[in-house]
Amino acid sequence: MNIGKLYGIGVGPGDPELLTLKAYKTLREVDMIVAPSSREGKRSLALLTVERIIKERENELIVVEPVFPMTKDQAKLDFYWEKAREEVLEKGKGCESVAFITLGDPSLYSTFYKFLDFFKDEVEEVEIIPGVTSLSACSALAKVPIAEGNEIVSIIPDIKGNDNALRVIQNSDSLIFLKPKNIDEIKNMLANKKAILGVKIGFEDQEMVLGKLTELKQPTHYLSTLIVKKEEKEK
Ligand SMILES: C[S@@+](CC[C@H](N)C(=O)[O-])C[C@H]1O[C@@H](n2cnc3c(N)ncnc32)[C@H](O)[C@@H]1O
Repeated sequence: MNIGKLYGIGVGPGDPELLTLKAYKTLREVDMIVAPSSREGKRSLALLTVERIIKERENELIVVEPVFPMTKDQAKLDFYWEKAREEVLEKGKGCESVAFITLGDPSLYSTFYKFLDFFKDEVEEVEIIPGVTSLSACSALAKVPIAEGNEIVSIIPDIKGNDNALRVIQNSDSLIFLKPKNIDEIKNMLANKKAILGVKIGFEDQEMVLGKLTELKQPTHYLSTLIVKKEEKEK
């Protein structure tokens, strides 16, 4: 057993003020932070979010930023995950507590659970600290609820070649598209419904567009969330 306690911490969408008090307290105390990066040389956005807390700390801290590439290439994935294991176990020798930080919440399309599975033989105890999701942050900034009453919400990570996604689109009242790559296809299905597009919400250069879906342009940034409401409630 190498890691006494592993924390999975959701650091929220990017605004350090949206960190929970529990996450803040834990990040001030842990011996090591593991901050996932999506490619070589790219700073971890989760790490950027907690930079201020790290600077405030007086006790020693080890920070590693292993690469977990977003690819389906299994050989590449095996290479980077093995590299991450070596780095974490080598640099984390003697660390009692390790925090794996993730944007938003660890339960929502995060690398955390895969990390936990990969390191399970090395970990004695696990605690997960939830975070404010990007969906909640987009909804709050737009001042538009994700769902009310009996409305059904669906989260769609990718529509391409996904028949289940098409079925869900037909049967939901509120739709949340993560990194929406096929906005023209979404427009074809949902036409002029009310839409909110949030890009880099919580970061200094955040952008928010509120309007009809047909008016929106294809977002290019990975941190883009599109919320489409089928019906507009009578006020
Ligand atoms: C792998 S998922 C991670 C979701 C995250 N765990 C959460 O709870 O929000 C990444 C996607 O979440 C959305 N996302 C994450 N952070 C965002 C932000 N700050 N602004 C807008 N969308 C964001 C984007 O759709 C992005 O492609």
